[in-house]
Amino acid sequence: MQQTFTLRKFTPDDLQAVMRINRVCLPENYTDMFFMDLHQRFPETFIVAEEDGEIIGYIMCRIEVGLSNIGLGGLVRKGHVVSIAVMPKGRRKGVATALLKAAMEGMTRYKAKQIFLEVRVTNHAGIELYKKLGLEVSRTISGYYSDGEDAYVMTKRL
Ligand code: ACO
Ligand code: ZN
Repeated sequence: MQQTFTLRKFTPDDLQAVMRINRVCLPENYTDMFFMDLHQRFPETFIVAEEDGEIIGYIMCRIEVGLSNIGLGGLVRKGHVVSIAVMPKGRRKGVATALLKAAMEGMTRYKAKQIFLEVRVTNHAGIELYKKLGLEVSRTISGYYSDGEDAYVMTKRL
C-alpha cells in the first residue's frame, strides 16, 4: 500500500499536538518542560509523523550512559525510547514502525550501541511492534507503573 504519512523532526510548534496525542494514547503524561527538554537535548530522536497536514504520531527518546543490558560490557551509550504513540485513526499503517526506525538511526548518530524501552506486560500491540523490529525482552520490572503494573524491558543492539 502507498505510504500516506511523512516523518520529520519535532519542532516547538508541534508541542500542543504531541502532548494531546500523548494524553489520548497513554496514561503516562509529562509536563511541557519535559517534552521541550528532550527535544533540546536529543533533537535527532524526537520525531513526528504527519498525515494530511496533521500530526498523528510521535516518538521521543533520551540517550543514557549505563551498563549494557545485552552484555556489551562496561558502560555504553543507550537510546531509551521514553514515549511513542500513534492516534487510533492512524494505526496499523506502519507509522510506529517508521518512527522507531528513524529514531534508531538518530540514536546511532548519538553513538548509542543499543536501544531499550519499558512496555506494560499487557500491551500486546506494543510488544508485537517491538518484537517485529528485533527487540527482545531482557527483564521484567515488578510494579514499574504507578498503577502497579509490571514492565518488560525490551532491548536490541544497534
Ligand atoms: N495488535 C497486535 N499487533 C499489533 C497491533 C495490535 N493492535 N498494533 C501493532 N501491532 C504489531 C503488528 O505486528 C504490526 O504489524 P502488522 O500491522 O503488519 O501486523 C506491527 O506491530 C507494526 O505496527 P505499526 O502499524 O507500525 O504500529 P502503529 O502505527 O499502529 O502503532 C502503537 C503501534 C504505537 C503501539 C499504537 O498502537 C499506540 O499508539 N498504542 C497506544 C500507545 C502505546 O501503547 N505506546 C507504546 C507504549 S511503550 C513506550 O512508549 C516505550
Ligand atoms: Zn522508559
